[in-house]
Amino acid sequence: MKYSKLKPFPEHFLWGASTSAYQVEGAVNEDGKGKSIIDMYEHPADVADFAVASDHYHRYKEDIRLFAELGMKAYRFSVAWTRILPQGTGEVNEKGLTFYRNVIAECRKYGIEPVVTMYHFDLPYALEEKGGWLNRATIDAFVEYAEILFENFGSNVHYWLTINEQNTMILHPGAIGLPKGGKLPEKKDMYQQNHHMMLAQARVMKLFHKMIPEGKIGPALNLTAMYPATCAPEDAIAAHNWEVLRCWNFADVPTKGWYHPLAWSYMEDRGIAPEVLEGDREILKDAAPDFLAMNYYSTATIAASKGDASDVAARAGDQQIMLGEQGVYRPAENPYVGKTEYGWVVDPVGFRYTLRKAYERYHLPILITENGIGAPDVLEADGSIHDDYRINFIKEHLQQMRLAITDGVEMLGYCPWAAIDVVSTHQGYRKRYGFIYVDREEFDLKELKRYPKDSYYWYQQVIRENGSSL
Ligand code: BG6
Repeated sequence: MKYSKLKPFPEHFLWGASTSAYQVEGAVNEDGKGKSIIDMYEHPADVADFAVASDHYHRYKEDIRLFAELGMKAYRFSVAWTRILPQGTGEVNEKGLTFYRNVIAECRKYGIEPVVTMYHFDLPYALEEKGGWLNRATIDAFVEYAEILFENFGSNVHYWLTINEQNTMILHPGAIGLPKGGKLPEKKDMYQQNHHMMLAQARVMKLFHKMIPEGKIGPALNLTAMYPATCAPEDAIAAHNWEVLRCWNFADVPTKGWYHPLAWSYMEDRGIAPEVLEGDREILKDAAPDFLAMNYYSTATIAASKGDASDVAARAGDQQIMLGEQGVYRPAENPYVGKTEYGWVVDPVGFRYTLRKAYERYHLPILITENGIGAPDVLEADGSIHDDYRINFIKEHLQQMRLAITDGVEMLGYCPWAAIDVVSTHQGYRKRYGFIYVDREEFDLKELKRYPKDSYYWYQQVIRENGSSL
């Protein structure tokens, strides 16, 4: 659809950027923090670990000052559950509360809206040892943790995200590292874990609305629209299969109170549907989010399954690289889109398409909580970083977002990945996303000095103009 006039970005649009605790903070053994699964899982040996990361734990004041100079109106970060409750439940660590109280106060000092993710992949290891999300007791632990967060920060934080990329954790569990011994859970167990996370999320949203009626809360999902590889009806069915199983099933439960019918049929047929106890349906029905948070990186292109083992690609997949599933779908190439050097599809028009689909399904305002391009940025001798590829990527996505706004999609804000360089779980500091460069290498920490990249100055101008020249 072409328009004679584009709608402007909303007046109080949340121009921001994101990070997550384990990828930015470091200080993994400081001030009483407990171990999370991220600390205990196996990760590739040739990339940075999370011990120091970008040292934000010690440098948050300097970082937030740089965010303020960038003009950020919102900073999306996550709380490490293990800083607040080192054992996942029980004794509260005051020093953990103090750290996040300080981060929030620092944001407020500059008029930056804190957007807080409660759980970004880093489940307390003490809970994992007792069965993790397979154990229904973890639902109570999450509610206990949430109540502490709401009590302590509820009056200063308006926007909350429950769980980051539940669909990534369930469908691509290896994306956050491998349990010791390298064995991932069976599919049936993953869908049971998923059910428990859904219950935990629903209970937390309900509690939130009771405790902080003026606040807003929502899930943060990784959403990716799917194109059929050809106009063959079988390809369209396969694309729909995977779009439902990968995306909408995870958004339907919090918004509509139950699983997508196609996903439920799939799980039942394969004997992997979760056990549902009496009262579960009521818990899911009884809660609703105020908005939908969306991480968008790519679209995917899908062909009909051939019904044999060749449906599943031999290479390793991740949250954006589709693997295929026998009898469900197979991945296909799309000659009309680009690719990053890590194999992730670059598709700004697909962003508009995904936004339209998500809004059409849920009619909830959308907050973008991740979008961006990973690249091996180069620090020049004069301290500059010429990341024109990042500027182009974000510019093209923002142009498409403006078209989506003109299409009628209600947008709350845009918080791309990432505010500052963070550890990429698989590629460490060889793959960077930030507006601010952190001078360290995989194993040489150097001085961890901060350098604004070209994209920082470009984004500053975009924010200043409220996106009017996009
Ligand atoms: C998202 C995650 O899926 O992708 C982030 O929420 C992650 O935590 C981001 O860093 C980019 O992924 P990667 O693997 O390139 O760092």
